[in-house]
Amino acid sequence: MVRLHVNGRDHEVDALPDTPLLYVLRDHLELHAAKYGCGLGQCGSCTVLVDGQAVFSCVTPVLLLEGRKVTTVEGLGTPENPGPMQSAFIAEQAAQCGYCIPGMMMRAQALLQRNPHATDEEIRTHLQPNLCRCGTHMRILRAIRRAATMMQTADASRPGRGRAGR
Ligand code: FES
Ligand code: FES
Repeated sequence: MVRLHVNGRDHEVDALPDTPLLYVLRDHLELHAAKYGCGLGQCGSCTVLVDGQAVFSCVTPVLLLEGRKVTTVEGLGTPENPGPMQSAFIAEQAAQCGYCIPGMMMRAQALLQRNPHATDEEIRTHLQPNLCRCGTHMRILRAIRRAATMMQTADASRPGRGRAGR
């Protein structure tokens, strides 16, 4: 039995300790956003956050995750109330086939949580481990820039967080 904390909830999962996190997310917890691409840590379609860091869930055994916080795209918002990253990707229509998009969103989320004012160069460099076979890179970049602006605006409008309060 493995204990996991995913998207703010605790779970006990009947899985072997070396089971990749991706399989547990999809097969045990029915969280299907993270995708199986290469299974080798080479494409990024399975990217999720662990304690705020982007990781390849296809090569991360669940035994490493006890006591750590896992976040998937499902944890960024809901269809009724999407988070900034989700809203931005929808607004920019960043997906073509969509297979890479959850991984792109989570890697971008890791960057913007750490550095909400990331430059274009920093975004491009950070996103390099994630591949898009459809070639929608320019729309993905626009979506991430839009998400950054939305997050900055939301942060600035929080009580005590306006420019004068910084
Ligand atoms: S499926 Fe995990 S990196 Fe490709
Ligand atoms: S939108 Fe198809 S792989 Fe990126």
